Amino acid sequence: MLVTGGAGYIGSHVVLALLEAGQDVLVLDNLSNSSLESLARVERLCGRAPRFVEGDIRDRALLDRLFAEQRIGAVMHFAGLKAVGESVQQPLRYYENNVAGSVTLCQAMAAAGVFRLVFSSSATVYGEPPQMPIREDFPTGTPTNPYGRSKLMVEEILRDLSLSEPRWNIALLRYFNPVGAHPSGLIGEDPQGIPNNLLPYISQVAVGKLKELAVFGDDYPTVDGTGVRDYIHVMDLADGHLKALAALAERNGVNVWNLGTGTGYSVLQMIHAFEQASGRSVPYRIAPRRAGDIAECWADPALAEQELGWKARRGLAEMMADTWRWQSNNPDGYRPASA
Ligand code: NAD
Ligand code: UFG
Repeated sequence: MLVTGGAGYIGSHVVLALLEAGQDVLVLDNLSNSSLESLARVERLCGRAPRFVEGDIRDRALLDRLFAEQRIGAVMHFAGLKAVGESVQQPLRYYENNVAGSVTLCQAMAAAGVFRLVFSSSATVYGEPPQMPIREDFPTGTPTNPYGRSKLMVEEILRDLSLSEPRWNIALLRYFNPVGAHPSGLIGEDPQGIPNNLLPYISQVAVGKLKELAVFGDDYPTVDGTGVRDYIHVMDLADGHLKALAALAERNGVNVWNLGTGTGYSVLQMIHAFEQASGRSVPYRIAPRRAGDIAECWADPALAEQELGWKARRGLAEMMADTWRWQSNNPDGYRPASA
């Protein structure tokens, strides 16, 4: 099994789950947004390390070599850039990494006769859906930024690919909002610089690294005026990947599954739940809406339950407790305290 981007936040949790399930794992990561420490900790947790190659999914010669030399039956493809704001500033970098990188990966897979692929997609491909909860058969919309468009483009490329060659079997996993960390507090999300996403921001405020949270808008048509999202524990997400991979053994073509809980929480509800779990207060102020945000977004997860036998099991309190354990044990993420 090849895992691209396996040193990153979601990838490292999935690598751990794969190793614990007895799979043989090769990680390819260029470490542009991660460090090898995540995989060292994976080894501490399960007593086994994945094989690791530092390299880039855009490097076709490297991919050809890996497919020729290593036993690879399937690919889980996490590698990519994911900062929405940065994608607006640097669209070509995003299209090159996310779109061109995925094309190169698929070319190398096809050349090597490997046709099983699990792709990290996002609820962002739905754009601004007309109603909630979001089902997989809703039409894809217009994402509001290059990052989102890169995800939608890759989905469409993968659909074309599977039409052209029936041996492909592909899972498009549309994540809602991944949060949380392994319950050990040893692996978790380690954003570089100031976090873009809500929960990493809240936890850095709670730990004293940031002064206060800006709540982007309190005039949305939601329960309390703040944005509502479907936050899903990264451990549930990891489990969903293993179930999707298993299901692909009996499926062809492109399969789309939402990975969400089916429940939405507002920004203020998230702040209060975090305060309860951590015993810290999270100062915040109301700020203007953030460009490109939608009011609410949550999944109908029924299809994944029906077809994969998968369901998110961890609730909000567990998401918060695990985030807090990770953040308070590792205030500087994977960097040593002196760095
Ligand atoms: P992450 O940045 O922690 O992990 C991505 C990994 O890919 C990093 O280790 C990075 O070094 C590596 N990488 C980036 N470009 C590469 C390249 N060209 N070649 C090799 N390695 C490369 O992000 P994450 O949160 O773990 O996200 C994983 C995937 O899930 C991404 O594709 C992301 O777009 C998608 N996704 C994430 C979220 C989220 O909120 N975290 C939501 C929906 C979808
Ligand atoms: N928010 C704040 N203040 C912050 C950060 C976020 O109020 O400092 C609010 C946002 O306005 C939104 C909610 O918290 O209402 C969640 O915001 P995030 O940035 O954590 O997540 P998004 O839903 O905007 O985006 C996430 C991923 C994208 C993905 C998208 C799919 O970051 O990669 O979900 O829905 F495309």
